[in-house]
Amino acid sequence: MDQRNPSVSECPFPHDPAPVHGALLAQDPRAVYGPLRQRWGAIAPIELAPGVEAWLVMGYQEALELVWNERAFSSDARRWRALTEGLLPEDSPLLPILGWRPALSRLDDQAHRQQRQVVTETLDRVDVRRLRALVRQQAEATVDQWAMHGAADLVNQYGQPLVWSVLGQLLGLADSQTPMLIALVSSIVGSAAEAAQAEAELMQLLRHLVAVKRETPGPDFASWLSHSARLTDAEVAHNLAAILFSGGQSTINWLSGTMWLLLTDTGLSSALATGRLTVSDAVDRALWACSPLPNIAGRWARNAVVFAGCRIAAGDLLIPCLAAANTDPAIHGAGNLGTNRAHLAFGTGAHGCPAKEAARLIVETAVDVLLRRLNEVRPGVADTDLRWRPSLWGAAPASLPTLFQSSRPQRSTTDEASHHAVMAVPEKRQDDRATDTDPAPQRWGWWNSNAGW
Ligand code: HEM
Repeated sequence: MDQRNPSVSECPFPHDPAPVHGALLAQDPRAVYGPLRQRWGAIAPIELAPGVEAWLVMGYQEALELVWNERAFSSDARRWRALTEGLLPEDSPLLPILGWRPALSRLDDQAHRQQRQVVTETLDRVDVRRLRALVRQQAEATVDQWAMHGAADLVNQYGQPLVWSVLGQLLGLADSQTPMLIALVSSIVGSAAEAAQAEAELMQLLRHLVAVKRETPGPDFASWLSHSARLTDAEVAHNLAAILFSGGQSTINWLSGTMWLLLTDTGLSSALATGRLTVSDAVDRALWACSPLPNIAGRWARNAVVFAGCRIAAGDLLIPCLAAANTDPAIHGAGNLGTNRAHLAFGTGAHGCPAKEAARLIVETAVDVLLRRLNEVRPGVADTDLRWRPSLWGAAPASLPTLFQSSRPQRSTTDEASHHAVMAVPEKRQDDRATDTDPAPQRWGWWNSNAGW
């Protein structure tokens, strides 16, 4: 990165940014980011919504530098010029993901480290053996619902209900809340028109959850995060939201991306069938080929800077595009595409995903159950007919119709109690927090009044 180089070429931004929103996103990410890379190279001036501009960083080395260089690039959305200059409507569908919240994903430096420590300590409390048993049991039960039909949609009838049910349980939500969770988070991650309203409803749900768990702790994240004296109740609720936004759709996408590869890449599926590759190798291949979280939700330039040959103004939004970085011809020319773990799918540096092992366990177990239960699996539609979820923050087929040999349910494995506790229960905290005001900016009047905080 060059802060002074006078010979650097002026980028044309912001005169003709490429629109990256709406229907354009409802296709294979290769078709979205390939043409952008061809036209602009490692960094492209784009438009996230009419009039909302950003830099899309697509080169592997450039994305790595953007994520690593915290001194130049902040995760704190309060620096965003579009916000400080009032360019975004208060109910912009972009704000639930890109706006500021008092959670680890939106903090820098010491404040970030403090919250991250609480979150990682909570993740470390998960009993891996029990989590595997829980995922396996719920995966078997889900397959039992449609195995006899010889056809299923592996996104909507498998990945989505399975991952949300497991994640909901980890957080401390009841099974009956799963459909609502799916609807709210899908709308937020998809930046749907009603995303701001969905965020208000989700925060209300999470705040209620935190209040309940403070009174009656359970074997879940909400209880352990509330148990820490280092987070206010508002921070606990916002960190639960951050976990849902980063973890839910991306885990579903990783699972469906792996199955999509296995259905369409006969070389990969036969290598797996003959033992030349393991399930672990196959899921790594999916991380390279179709990054489940295609774009990291923002870094903001702390000061004016020249980066990747472009003049970036203070407060500009830069988006590390993992989907493009992982398929950057500059690294794959060296024959790197494959099953190693040098991809950027989990991010890296201070904000790199703290739950990658848990996510891997969920995805590998879920893939393993499918491989064992389904015989003669084949795609139910042509590759070209697949529709993609139109989202910057979650790239995967919107559905994955699949055909296979029908089989009978395996009741014996699924009759057991459907819930394993995957962590211990914390003791109830005796102290009351003195103040617990939500420091989030007053983005929406009804947001705050609705939520009551
Ligand atoms: C059990 C599932 C998961 C949970 C609970 C989870 C949780 C989180 C959390 C809390 C963060 C914020 C870390 C921070 O800012 O310090 C994060 C970051 C991240 N996660 Fe995950 N995650 C999960 C699965 C995944 C999956 C499957 C992927 C993609 C393969 C993924 C990719 C990322 C990336 C790229 C970041 C970095 C964001 C940044 O640099 O700002 N996560 N995750």
